[in-house]
Amino acid sequence: MFQGNSINVQRIEEGFVELCFDRREDSINKFDERTLHELADAVGSIARDGTVRGVLITSAKKTFVVGADINELSTAFRLSEADLALRNLKLNQGFIDLEDLPVPSVVAINGLALGSGMELTLAAALRAMSIGARIGLPEVKLGLIPGMGGTVRTPRVAGADVALNLIASGKLITAPEAKSLGLVDAVCVAEELRATALDLLRQACNGGIDWRHRQSRKRCLTINEATDQQAVLNARWKEVSARSPKHQPATLVALELMTRAATKTREVALAMEAESFAQVAKTHAADSLIQTFRNGQALKKLFRKHDHDGRVVKQAAVLGAGIMGGGIAVTSALHGFPTRLKDLAQSQLDLGVTEVDRQLARQIKNGRLNAERARIVRDSLTPQLDNRGFDAVDMVVEAIVERLETKRVVLSTLETHLHRDAIIASNTSSLLIDDIAQALARPENFVGMHFFNPVPVMALVEVVRGSRTRAETVSTAVAYALAMGKTPIVVKDCPGFLVNRILTTYVIAFLQLVAEGADFAQIDRVMEDFGWPMGPAYLQDVIGMDTGARVWRVISAGYPHRMVLPKRDAVCLLVEHKRYGQKNGAGFYCYDLDSTGKTHKYTSDETYALLSAIQPEGARFFADAEIIERMMLPMIVEAAHALEDDVVASAAELDMALLLGLGFPAYLGGPLKYADWLGLDNVVRQCDRYAKLGNHYVPTGPMRALAAARQSFHNA
Ligand SMILES: NC(=O)c1ccc[n+]([C@@H]2O[C@H](COP(=O)([O-])OP(=O)(O)OC[C@H]3O[C@@H](n4cnc5c(N)ncnc54)[C@H](O)[C@@H]3O)[C@@H](O)[C@H]2O)c1
Repeated sequence: MFQGNSINVQRIEEGFVELCFDRREDSINKFDERTLHELADAVGSIARDGTVRGVLITSAKKTFVVGADINELSTAFRLSEADLALRNLKLNQGFIDLEDLPVPSVVAINGLALGSGMELTLAAALRAMSIGARIGLPEVKLGLIPGMGGTVRTPRVAGADVALNLIASGKLITAPEAKSLGLVDAVCVAEELRATALDLLRQACNGGIDWRHRQSRKRCLTINEATDQQAVLNARWKEVSARSPKHQPATLVALELMTRAATKTREVALAMEAESFAQVAKTHAADSLIQTFRNGQALKKLFRKHDHDGRVVKQAAVLGAGIMGGGIAVTSALHGFPTRLKDLAQSQLDLGVTEVDRQLARQIKNGRLNAERARIVRDSLTPQLDNRGFDAVDMVVEAIVERLETKRVVLSTLETHLHRDAIIASNTSSLLIDDIAQALARPENFVGMHFFNPVPVMALVEVVRGSRTRAETVSTAVAYALAMGKTPIVVKDCPGFLVNRILTTYVIAFLQLVAEGADFAQIDRVMEDFGWPMGPAYLQDVIGMDTGARVWRVISAGYPHRMVLPKRDAVCLLVEHKRYGQKNGAGFYCYDLDSTGKTHKYTSDETYALLSAIQPEGARFFADAEIIERMMLPMIVEAAHALEDDVVASAAELDMALLLGLGFPAYLGGPLKYADWLGLDNVVRQCDRYAKLGNHYVPTGPMRALAAARQSFHNA
């Protein structure tokens, strides 16, 4: 009856037709413009045929429809807001025609139905869902709102509260949840999906289900229903705005839109949705979050290769049961690796094991682990003081004290207890992998695995390739990190690796501002408003002033031409006064416990008096915009240096590492995406204005060339 590239329609039994999504030469179904036009044509041919009694909608792939074609969407987002809204409205036509068919339609949801895939199911009269399938409206995760009727049909099918929860969380839901929320009409095992959907279709045809009432409700709610929905949405306003991430307006736009559209006809509501969709699509957040999604897709391809090339890790071990070692060991065991945890001292080992138990208890409390599984994990972890069983271990992560000589001695001895192919990964944060490797007999089996603190929470692992590390060793470390649920990024061995190297320039910018008389609390407020999880002064307090002072000194010494700390900087001054930060109650801020036992931070005159010793020109006011420029530009410049030095292979990997390792504001997409958004010509101009402050503000040659050619990092 209809044959397209992504959709075909055939007559089946009882006067029904089957509209099947089966995208040619692809493993999944998605909605690109061509498919949306085909849908309108396919539905048109059904509508014109007077003999069809009902429509069964299926997918021939494992998934149903995974949503929009993201690459095509990003190109469309270059349109003006008005043209984008118009495009969306036009592309909605197939969904509207499906909803308006004079005969009932039933969707058989066999797998993932996401975004526009789920929105299509809502346009049909009825829905049957296989027990293993999942549906959801994840658009907010891309900084968007549903744009194919999701904000209009979800509340009319399942109520305003369900719609808001789905849209605001972007979460996928299971078939039983979808049924209990009223989003689908039947749930069954996969083998019975077709029969169940056909049965619904028969019931609709013979009057057993009043599908026409549902159809008219989707076109317009009664005034009472609409007013009730508005009341529900109004009551949620405060809570939703409190939970919305900074500078990501999509959720609030969706809430406001659904509130206004509740009383409107479907046609008016869809036009309003198209306008709001275009409005959020043009935001900085959408541009960045879509880039991040694409970066993630690119990473997945790399991961598949490493997974294939790496050696199998059956047993793991961690050396050092301190802050990092305990976290690495529990994460390794939780992900199915029998893991040995070795320390020098029983007291330290006990502390590490206590930390492991605390982590497991937390997982049980959060409902992520049951007691039986926790016991199995705990049993798979062997605390020990000797080298028993190390000959069977395939991967050892070293997390002992940060001293080159100690690491060299310990690791060269360790090598003698391991089998020839075993891999040693150091969690060093400031030493070079090549420097440690000098002491090893098998440097090709040695690599860096730089985890971030706290290990169970932080997703990033920098896998550091030394100059003698074998490719297979890198792949094994990547695959092991992936199997631990982490996102590994391969980086070249250099001072600070990638993340801390870029962070150091940000810290230097901060210390310079303070030395010039800026108020550290204002800098914190400005940077937190800008989207950072914590300002730079508070960050020093959390890291610990003594640790920070050492790290910034070591890393900046690796780049003496452009990373120069002020002659007397605030961090060193605070160390001199034994103000180590949160851990001893005073750093930039002072800390108290309030009556509920929560730590409370505040500024004190004493701190300002202390800092005046390193501010030769006294306190000075800086405009917020200048603070942002001075803090952010050096990160962009250093990111460009890192890319040019091949510290990472791509802009996608660099930005992902900074987002995951540093909490770089998500709506900026990472330093390189941020530079792309600002425009490289603009970045270069701003940098030149600050060049007198030091070479960390001086753009690189390739940056200037990209700017002159009007190109960007992500399209270079
Ligand atoms: N703490 C962080 O935020 C962080 C972040 C990333 C990387 N790192 C790196 O991780 C490593 C460990 O740091 P940490 O903060 O966990 O230190 P820590 O001081 O908390 O723990 C080190 C542990 O190693 C043990 N140890 C020392 N020599 C040993 C040996 N020969 N064999 C076995 N155990 C030994 C100590 O007894 C101690 O328990 C360092 O290289 C550090 O640079 C730390």
